[in-house]
Amino acid sequence: MIGVFDSGIGGLTVWREITRILPDVPTIYLADQAFVPYGERPEAFVCARTLTCVEWLVEQGCDPVVVACNTASAVALEAVRHAFPSVGVVGMEPAVKPAAQQTRTGVVGVLATAVTLRSARYAALTAQWRASAQIIERACPTWVTAVETCETNAQLQPCVEACLVPMLEAGADVIVLGCTHFPFLLPWIERSVEAWRVAHAAEREVRILDPSPAVARQVARLWKPRSSPNGTHALQRFYTTGEALRFEQAASFWLGQPVRAASLTSALRVPA
Ligand code: DGL
Repeated sequence: MIGVFDSGIGGLTVWREITRILPDVPTIYLADQAFVPYGERPEAFVCARTLTCVEWLVEQGCDPVVVACNTASAVALEAVRHAFPSVGVVGMEPAVKPAAQQTRTGVVGVLATAVTLRSARYAALTAQWRASAQIIERACPTWVTAVETCETNAQLQPCVEACLVPMLEAGADVIVLGCTHFPFLLPWIERSVEAWRVAHAAEREVRILDPSPAVARQVARLWKPRSSPNGTHALQRFYTTGEALRFEQAASFWLGQPVRAASLTSALRVPA
């Protein structure tokens, strides 16, 4: 079984790619929605919650486990690998390297959470690329909330523009989606970029980088077919530490297919 974990429903953008490549492989998705968003919380809290949630996935028999959350990966990936040495662990990392290699203007924009952007892991990653490109960052907590609550009303477009336009004005021609919630907002992101290009008669192409297809390919390389431990379970199972209905509504909305979920009301809901 493949385990996929995120603070909320953002990791479904990675789950979607994994199940596209491995449609017959059983998956368990766990959202820690009792504590979403992680992006503005203390690092120690995010690290402890990540360990608790990954432990639960490992107990269910998941291997590999995908930490489909840039924030959790930024502060907890080493701890997870250390705690579960026999389990394959795949994490997320903002796609700064391909962005720095692809930019023509020499300016790259990274959209992520505050925790990711201030992490030592992100500092180490960008240190390798700051000589080849100017890297500008922006935390967009409102985007995470919009995805979690399915707020696709008239406020969303200006909210997306408020984070993107300063990067475009600064010359960015590659934008890195460094949070797994953000690929769900791709239509709004692309509309904002297009509107800006038209308004400024800008010739330059702007690329949006979503690392989930590459992460899914890495998961597929790690996956070793085994006999299923229990044939009575659904192929794809979804759990949340929050309310099941809230998960089902948001997941069904963004995936465009009906999703059934169960709420974990046990020890997993106790704050770290
Ligand atoms: N989806 C998460 C990420 O990739 C974080 C969202 C949050 O909980 O703030 O960073």
